[in-house]
Amino acid sequence: MPTIKINDVEMSVNPGTLVLDACRSLGIDIPHYCYHPALSPVATCRMCLVDIKGQPKLATSCTTTVPPAPKDNPNAVVMEVFTNTPAVADARAGVMEFLLINHPLDCPICDQAGECKLQDYSYAYGSGDSRMAEVKRRYRYEDLGAKIVIDKNRCIHCTRCVRFTREISGGGELTVANRGSRLEVTTFTGKSMDQNPYAGNVVDLCPVGALTSRDFRFRKRVWYLKSVPSISRHSALGSPIWIDHEGNQIHRFRPRPLPGKETTHFISDEERYAYPRYNRSGKAPLPTLKGAPASLDAIREALQAAGPVAVIGQGTFGCDAAQRLGDLATSEGLRYGSGDKTIPIVLPKYQTSADGILNRRGFSERGFRFGALEELLGKVQSGEVKAVVLLHDAAFSSVRESELLGQLLGASTFSLALEVEASPLGRAATAWLPIASFAEESDFIVNHDGELRRYQKALQAPKGVRTVPTWAKDLIAVPAAV
Ligand code: SF4
Ligand code: FES
Repeated sequence: MPTIKINDVEMSVNPGTLVLDACRSLGIDIPHYCYHPALSPVATCRMCLVDIKGQPKLATSCTTTVPPAPKDNPNAVVMEVFTNTPAVADARAGVMEFLLINHPLDCPICDQAGECKLQDYSYAYGSGDSRMAEVKRRYRYEDLGAKIVIDKNRCIHCTRCVRFTREISGGGELTVANRGSRLEVTTFTGKSMDQNPYAGNVVDLCPVGALTSRDFRFRKRVWYLKSVPSISRHSALGSPIWIDHEGNQIHRFRPRPLPGKETTHFISDEERYAYPRYNRSGKAPLPTLKGAPASLDAIREALQAAGPVAVIGQGTFGCDAAQRLGDLATSEGLRYGSGDKTIPIVLPKYQTSADGILNRRGFSERGFRFGALEELLGKVQSGEVKAVVLLHDAAFSSVRESELLGQLLGASTFSLALEVEASPLGRAATAWLPIASFAEESDFIVNHDGELRRYQKALQAPKGVRTVPTWAKDLIAVPAAV
């Protein structure tokens, strides 16, 4: 491995490593706008300039790579980089001044305020003064379809969004039009971002708040939000996401890139805009038995008196839930899996399976058999199984599967449904228990690629609503003798 020196600190890196990455691995922040690890390098913003010994001009660290060590002297220092020279400081201040020439001072109403790279770098590397006496260029904001709004006054022309639509999502809806001070990012005539199922990512990519999400625009100041690491339930892989929440309400889902995993930089719009369904409104649901509010003791008694119990677990819940639910079955052979939603594959690199049941593997590993509900129906109809416990989310079952589950509940002597909100299927069960949503509990899944992914509790569940493991433990418990 070649040796390089950064600000007089020696380190060994693989040949071909970007100087910017090498600096960051030493904890040295290199300001940058156009660079993004998942996009092609263009070196247009000039913010990442560094001093390299022996080179007459400053170099862009986002495109300069570490050369291999000479064969005859493998221990030689192949490159000396300085990020703290007066020339670098001057360059950064100069670039900031140019970038701010036309940028409006609308931070108080800008959605990006608080997570804006222009604000951060201006504060850290800018000059603090403006010599701009001329009138700034002005555009009105524009809708790029129903999901995305562009405010071109704020754009610094880093082209991350344009490269995303060309290199990642492939639709090429965005382009750079005009030249010089009239340069603007826009859509090709007649195109909008609506046809792009990954459009929301351009909002995350935009470092300065020029591209905003219609559903988040002017809704929340980001410094009030708390971010909790979680996963998306609406993908085959359980994409890592941040749940940004405040006041026990989720305000947005954002991708949570994992180190070294390029495919975790982006999420689909289906995943991104799924958050409202995890916000509760109205009163907390109550446990019911035969349609009337009931105590846990009454439900437990009815379940324990019913006879042999089979469980049906939908593979969209966590592994801990699967394990505890499985304990309710009279025997290991009576654990059945459900859930048959599919998600069309749009970007194969980012979605390796069309199966919309993200924890199918985790449930299978805990003895749940998928595709065997017909077999269970036969056992219920023959009287071999008397009671059925169903862990369910209606959004992940097709009409056909819902009908089959309905038949199962109808044929059993006793049925118990565990759901976040009561579905028609849940209401048809003999008993019903309210469970915490995935945003209200911590658990983990094993995705289709065999990766274990954890998620953490972001919201507080209403009083009386419990996690599946807690309900299962209480349903198994033997009531204390009076
Ligand atoms: S809209 Fe944002 S991401 Fe696109 S070029 Fe402008 S600053 Fe960059
Ligand atoms: S980040 Fe290197 S030139 Fe933009």
